[in-house]
Amino acid sequence: MCFQSYFSSVIMFQYLFIIISLSGAYSWTDNKQRRFKDDFLFGTASAAYQVEGGWDADGKSESIWDRYVHSRPEITPDGDMACDSYQHISRDVQMLRELGVDFYRFSIAWTRVLPTGFSNKINKKGLQYYNDLIDELIKYNIMPMVTLYHFDLPQSLQDLGGWANPLSINWFEDYARIIYDNFANKVPYFITINQPNSVCIDGYSGSFAPGINSKGIGDYLCVKNVMLAHARAYRLYQNEYKVKYQGSVGIAISVNWVEPINNQTENVKAAEIARDFTIGLYVSPIWSKDGDFPPSVKEAVASRSKEQGFHRSRLPSLTPEEKTLLKGSADFLGMNHYTTVQAQPSVKKYPSPSLEDDMLVDFAQSANWTQGASPWLKSAPFGLYKACVYLNLNYDYPPIIITEHGWSTGLGLRDGSRVENLRGYMTALLFALEDGTNVRGYTAWSLMDNVEWGAGVSERFGLYEVDFDSPKRKRSPRVSAHVYRRIIEQRIIEDTWLPSSLKMDVSMRRMGKDKSEL
Ligand code: NOJ
Repeated sequence: MCFQSYFSSVIMFQYLFIIISLSGAYSWTDNKQRRFKDDFLFGTASAAYQVEGGWDADGKSESIWDRYVHSRPEITPDGDMACDSYQHISRDVQMLRELGVDFYRFSIAWTRVLPTGFSNKINKKGLQYYNDLIDELIKYNIMPMVTLYHFDLPQSLQDLGGWANPLSINWFEDYARIIYDNFANKVPYFITINQPNSVCIDGYSGSFAPGINSKGIGDYLCVKNVMLAHARAYRLYQNEYKVKYQGSVGIAISVNWVEPINNQTENVKAAEIARDFTIGLYVSPIWSKDGDFPPSVKEAVASRSKEQGFHRSRLPSLTPEEKTLLKGSADFLGMNHYTTVQAQPSVKKYPSPSLEDDMLVDFAQSANWTQGASPWLKSAPFGLYKACVYLNLNYDYPPIIITEHGWSTGLGLRDGSRVENLRGYMTALLFALEDGTNVRGYTAWSLMDNVEWGAGVSERFGLYEVDFDSPKRKRSPRVSAHVYRRIIEQRIIEDTWLPSSLKMDVSMRRMGKDKSEL
């Protein structure tokens, strides 16, 4: 993208803005210039399977995603080579320097470091790769933010039951210890687990690795074990590394917003229960007062289980010791936020048993919201504002880091829709900050195009485009990369660029002030 055309689009935006303001279609509260404080952190993210490639290089073993993809010829994601980041540390870090980010969130492939899945055998070459990446980041003052688990369980452990086996809690703790032993001296931020809902609800739906269909049973076993695995890895750091290294450990939870389709009582109730099933199930054990799953979820699953002839709830309960372990087990809430859905009581028939059949809510998305390249992704910036305020009001002002937010497009460097989405969500975030939410940082997903799980490289999330046909997986900055760099530099969203699609008016903001109005 040459700078001349970049600036001519700025002028076009200014022009558009004037027209919109004059026509009165714009419903902002005031002309105040809001800015991100100097200590607000900006970063970008990736995950091992999605970018590294080298799926069996230098002693790495098979993960559940390698197995899932290799055994399904009908899916075409090229995770075997992906962006070949395993061979391109300096180019990857160069992009981060161009963006001017404060931190880079990436994940470690368990199978690269511990090929057996257990801590009996450490693969030095695997550790070396992450060590080199971390050193290169530190050389340029970019903080590493390390995710321990981003969907890629060792297949050897899956063969022993994976996350449905309660021993997975020990396996994960042992793995976490190896990572802390090697990197806690250089890494200020650790994220234990990425999106437990994807690991468990998607992972046991049949259409996401490990591809096991055990809806309503395996998924709930997994939820309990994954949450406890997180808590044990958190406590391990607290007990043995915190004093020495002073790092922070959190978890990344998918917090998409759930809005009622309209204000009718039944829809408001449907939205509430849907939030408990999709957000509360993972946030409550750590941030609620009792360290437990939300009461509404426990009740719904227990009563449906009974109707179905089960002698106990399909959602396993947490013992008092487990609740104590979980409660308060995070220094920050990592929030992955992409979109908003609208809820109403279900009229559809869902497989039984399943989470959907327990929750009994149907979802839609407004036809007025811009559609991304992923079928589930629509742009509704007010949802980020509401999700932040909701976490504040329900969970007592947890420190939040937005650990992912992003937008998918097709091919091409002129990604106007991503720019609009980024600016809209950043503006919503500035409102959330002004209204007292404790958000400490923002992470753009993703640094570069990568393997979008089952969708392969058809959905592009990158600030940088990757040419998957070129041997070196050439990376080129999109317009959004320039825009993001400028936001980081200036710490403001220039008014002239406000997207017309973001209509968050005064009444919308007031709704965030009182829990009963959400
Ligand atoms: C969240 C996941 O953590 C990430 O791996 C994925 O690519 C994005 N969502 C986009 O779907």
